[in-house]
Amino acid sequence: MPRRPLLVVGSLVVLTACSTAVLRPLPVVGATGIGDPYYPGDGNGGYDVDAYDLDIGYDPATDVLTGTATITARTTDAPLASFSLDLVGLDVADVRVDGTPVEVTRDGDELVVDRGQVVVDGGFTVRVEYSGVPEPVQDGPGESGVVTTDDGVLVVGQPDVAATWFPVNDHPSDAAAVQLSVTVPQDLVAVSNGELVERGDPVDGARTWVWRSDEPMAPYLVTLAVGDFDLTEREVDGITFRDAVAAGLTDRRAENARAALDRQPEILGFLAGMFGSPYPFTEAGGIVTASSLGFALETQTRPIYAQDFFGSASEAELVVVHELAHQWTGDDLRLDRWRDIWLNEGFATYAEWAWTEAQGGETVAEQLADVLGTPADDEFWEQAIGDPGPAGDELFSEQVYVRGAATLAALRAEMGDDAFAELLSRWTTEHAGQAVTTAEFTDLATEVAGTDLTGFFDSWLGTGKPA
Ligand code: ARG
Ligand code: ZN
Repeated sequence: MPRRPLLVVGSLVVLTACSTAVLRPLPVVGATGIGDPYYPGDGNGGYDVDAYDLDIGYDPATDVLTGTATITARTTDAPLASFSLDLVGLDVADVRVDGTPVEVTRDGDELVVDRGQVVVDGGFTVRVEYSGVPEPVQDGPGESGVVTTDDGVLVVGQPDVAATWFPVNDHPSDAAAVQLSVTVPQDLVAVSNGELVERGDPVDGARTWVWRSDEPMAPYLVTLAVGDFDLTEREVDGITFRDAVAAGLTDRRAENARAALDRQPEILGFLAGMFGSPYPFTEAGGIVTASSLGFALETQTRPIYAQDFFGSASEAELVVVHELAHQWTGDDLRLDRWRDIWLNEGFATYAEWAWTEAQGGETVAEQLADVLGTPADDEFWEQAIGDPGPAGDELFSEQVYVRGAATLAALRAEMGDDAFAELLSRWTTEHAGQAVTTAEFTDLATEVAGTDLTGFFDSWLGTGKPA
């Protein structure tokens, strides 16, 4: 939900009485950012998206993407006289609001439906026709966003890559259902999130794939992988696993990838036990690319894994544990503000530690002790993971992952195993499907522990080595 106050059009009068004594708020101008201090331009104010229906064509020969996005949304506070979507680059040919053609202004990464054309109030739809060659994002660990590969394209990145390929309210606090219909050359496979609704027959050398996710999804978690993939399907305990493994992997990496993906049902079972709540979705699986992205991403129901992780069987297994843990913490529970990134990465890294312990390796207590072995004057302790900063190397620092996991390991030692298990269960159950904050977590921890944990969290999430 956007938290940013709306700008009032014209005057400070927000309510007007009409003769029937019904008070109607005056139409306002939706803010061009949702109010996240780390990324002021991300997302937009005044509305909430229910669903994205994306109809996309991609031609690997030219890298041109052609799209029609139909966005179903609702105003949150007042009618909107003007509102914006996020869109980076790309040419917009036509925009309609509830079927009415409108003029738009492109201002940086904002696509603004200007005042004086339509007023939306309650539910509305926006349909945007657009095309162009998407610009890759350069501020990550390498190239991210829409990344071309030897045989096709991948869409993968965090925190805000969605706007590089479709018009969007690009912030995790506004999750929505997504249907992606994508047409590519007939010899290529197109993989996305959720359920495979249709694998069309070839028409004029192209084939349309339709993927659908009914459970709301943060925009950056929407993925697309087009290329030469081996796509397999199986069902285990009511969950459909669809895995896409790139044909271009070396034999050893392909073998490690398949072995790790084969363990997904077991890993999900372990994580359901650890979190004390069932896997949040009915679809699962993984996408292993032959590209060296340098990272993996918890794209909802179907994480993307760079080939880099599959050099050894143990590393392969841990990255799958990490990304599957994110399906609970990161995807089903998503961030209200990017500052709270440790709620994603700390939990996913803690899950790796817990898995390692369960496999008979180092215990969580030993891994915590390893971290606490870092001297107090080491720069490791200088970053406050509760407010890491917006740059890529701040938001995704080693500390956010490792100090984040250590915070949870220390909390478990502080509360005891049973109370900690209750905390994880209540956290993932009571906040299922919601945007969450650090304050909500620390409040719940305090409630479950029955003691004031303010000092504990201040020292673990702040600067300096905790005592
Ligand atoms: N959330 C991803 C993971 O934990 C990491 C994404 C890294 N992205 C970045 N821009 N540094 O695996
Ligand atoms: Zn992660």
